[in-house]
Amino acid sequence: MGAALDAGYRHLDTAAAYGNEKEVGQALRASGIDRKDVVVETKIWISDYGTEETPRGIEKSRAKLGVDQIDLLLLHQPLPTDFDRTLAAYRALEDALSTGTVRAIGVSNFLPEHLSDLLEHTHVVPAVNQIEVHPYFQQRELEAMNARHGILTQAWSPIGGITSYGGGQRRSFDDPTLHEIATAHGATAAQVMLAWHLQQGRQVIPKSVHVERIQENLDALNLELTAEELARIDSLETGVRSGPEPASLTLAEHGRPIPEA
Ligand SMILES: NC(=O)c1ccc[n+]([C@@H]2O[C@H](COP(=O)([O-])OP(=O)(O)OC[C@H]3O[C@@H](n4cnc5c(N)ncnc54)[C@H](OP(=O)(O)O)[C@@H]3O)[C@@H](O)[C@H]2O)c1
Repeated sequence: MGAALDAGYRHLDTAAAYGNEKEVGQALRASGIDRKDVVVETKIWISDYGTEETPRGIEKSRAKLGVDQIDLLLLHQPLPTDFDRTLAAYRALEDALSTGTVRAIGVSNFLPEHLSDLLEHTHVVPAVNQIEVHPYFQQRELEAMNARHGILTQAWSPIGGITSYGGGQRRSFDDPTLHEIATAHGATAAQVMLAWHLQQGRQVIPKSVHVERIQENLDALNLELTAEELARIDSLETGVRSGPEPASLTLAEHGRPIPEA
């Protein structure tokens, strides 16, 4: 995290469920960068959904991060089997927004039906829906729905990291089309994927533990693809989700407790 801040990254994505909010807060303070220049984004896990649970969850995240105000706070997942609990959690986010504990609120992994339900029963339109998007899984319908409601699509696994984990069969990093486009620009496949997102209006949160890749990914800001190249990347869609199916999540199976600060 320190290397990313040194390189110029100013948006940090973490989550209560990642177990690294303390380290993110420490890296932020150690960087010496003015707090107001960094966007700190975190997510409430499903075990902390509920009228009483979510305010406590927010306090745990704030304490671990060591910040007065969280810039962007998301619900990590919809809980389709207990959507009332999801709504109660989101209302707690709305309360935190009104008191200034958080600066913006949003959701993650919400499918169209979850968004519709949320929009019908709550007041504040989410600022962001953070979802799996990479060339092999693009979720265009969901992106369009986000856009119709003024919700920013934030791409997780934007360079298809999730296609490699667990010995994935079709790794985005090996894709011949991406390599061809990359070669034409003297760039890398990762940079081509990042430029593709940015030129199509999505926010990206690539992750690397390697300093040179952290810099490489940032340098994608200087890459501009042609309309034809963007269309070729669009055509890589496989329709196959690599991450967990959002509709299948249950508290019983996935509701591990989030420790106190
Ligand atoms: N909301 C959610 O449910 C959810 C789910 C998953 C992820 N996320 C968020 O999204 C972020 C990114 O997702 P992700 O980590 O799954 O995938 P990613 O950023 O698409 O890819 C990360 C993987 O790619 C490698 N990598 C990074 N830069 C590279 C480069 N330039 N060339 C080649 N390989 C490169 C990394 O390895 P090295 O680290 O070894 O370089 C790592 O294995 C996470 O950090 C997290 O904040 C959210």
